[in-house]
Amino acid sequence: KRAFDLVVAANRLPVDRVVSADGEVSWRTSPGGLVTAMESVMRDRDGAWVGWAGEAGEAPEPFEEQGMWLRPVALSEDEVKQYYEGFSNDTLWPIYHDVIVGASFHRQWFTQYEKVNRRFAEAIAEVAAKGATVWVHDYQLQLVPGMVRELRPDVRIGWFDHIPFPPVELFAQLPWRRAILEGLLGADYLGFQRVADAQNFVRACRQLLGLQTRGDTVSVSRADDSRRVRASAVPISIDFKGLEALAKEPETRARAKEIRESLGDPETLLLGVDRLDYTKGIGHRIKAYGELLAEDKVAPPREVFVQVATPSRERVEAYQQLRAEIEGEVGRLNGEFSRIGAPAVQYLHHSYPRREMAALFLAADVLLVTPLRDGMNLVAKEYVTCRYDEGGALVLSEFTGAFHELHQAFVVNPHDIEGLKQGIMRAIETPDKEKRRLMRAMRRRVADHDVQRWAARFLENLASAPERPAPAA
Ligand code: G6P
Repeated sequence: KRAFDLVVAANRLPVDRVVSADGEVSWRTSPGGLVTAMESVMRDRDGAWVGWAGEAGEAPEPFEEQGMWLRPVALSEDEVKQYYEGFSNDTLWPIYHDVIVGASFHRQWFTQYEKVNRRFAEAIAEVAAKGATVWVHDYQLQLVPGMVRELRPDVRIGWFDHIPFPPVELFAQLPWRRAILEGLLGADYLGFQRVADAQNFVRACRQLLGLQTRGDTVSVSRADDSRRVRASAVPISIDFKGLEALAKEPETRARAKEIRESLGDPETLLLGVDRLDYTKGIGHRIKAYGELLAEDKVAPPREVFVQVATPSRERVEAYQQLRAEIEGEVGRLNGEFSRIGAPAVQYLHHSYPRREMAALFLAADVLLVTPLRDGMNLVAKEYVTCRYDEGGALVLSEFTGAFHELHQAFVVNPHDIEGLKQGIMRAIETPDKEKRRLMRAMRRRVADHDVQRWAARFLENLASAPERPAPAA
């Protein structure tokens, strides 16, 4: 049996298992920022990654991939519905994102969440070497730190929150709020995207558990367990060098040129790239763009707007509704403002390989990142990274984690449609020389704070977390 000094656990493995109609099995990179970031951290680190392979039913056997040991965790069809689609994405996700859509509460969902979290904890306990570092990720696995601590008091446990941590007034709505806080407090160190997220967590421990807190630490004091847990901000990033190198490759550059040509060589190519999620403000963005079209401030083929909407959580009702709304709105705009050979909005409901994304970023004059709430938004950092030519402009919502780092973006409040329109126009009209200066500064920031540095900081914070008192002999 293999044992590892570094064990990562996330709901998803970095790859999803896909079985085609004729029964052929293949593996595909799984969606979202977590995998984008962690994949490059784990590559060649000789660690284990515990996670779900993306389909219901029996789990595949553990296997090796790019220097990682992947340990699949099985989820039954019922668990996919109740733990993943239900509690994780229909209870927690809306609460943690400012209740942009309402949350659903079902006791049974939480029971399944607990059960699946325990399965993850057991898998971790099974592959962790003595004294190992265990790094748990995201909102789907908040009970895991406490459960691992019970099973394996010898390991060091960290948890990183990829999404926002809500203000206590929202968090308090959760009937299972105590269990979640106690689960998280099983960690030695907790990392968050923004200072405000870490503070929200510390405040929740004080107000809802009555624990003593001091600055960024929470004191846990139980008869059998007394220690201090630190919660602080370590904003996530991307593999700057790797992605920049991909953008620079002749094949990527040629593809970028081809994309512009096939869109009729517009003066301005505007781009949106998001998982199709209601947190991303896609509707607000389309509304603003629609008004600009109506006012003739933008018009195809001079301006073309490409929206890539990656399919996501398609069986959850709020996502189905969102898709219908967005597609209705895009259809309406195209009906009204497109001309033959010159669509106003090009909408793509697909996911694309990395190179195609890099080419799109390289081709786009303006990237629109307008979430209503977003833990970080790595798309903004990917765009900046791909622009080795220092071209392009970033329109960025102040409700993203990225806003706290990319100060030279054209900042918008997506709720303020008039302001959003002005932000888009400024990004189009600002002289190139000024835009280059802004882009250069943002690129410097991401280059200095890349994903390797993020991982190193997280692991340092975890390693220097207060020692636990030795267990009683
Ligand atoms: C966000 C979350 C991740 C999640 C990803 C994709 O980035 O922070 O934990 O994996 O979205 O969502 P999905 O539900 O498809 O895993």
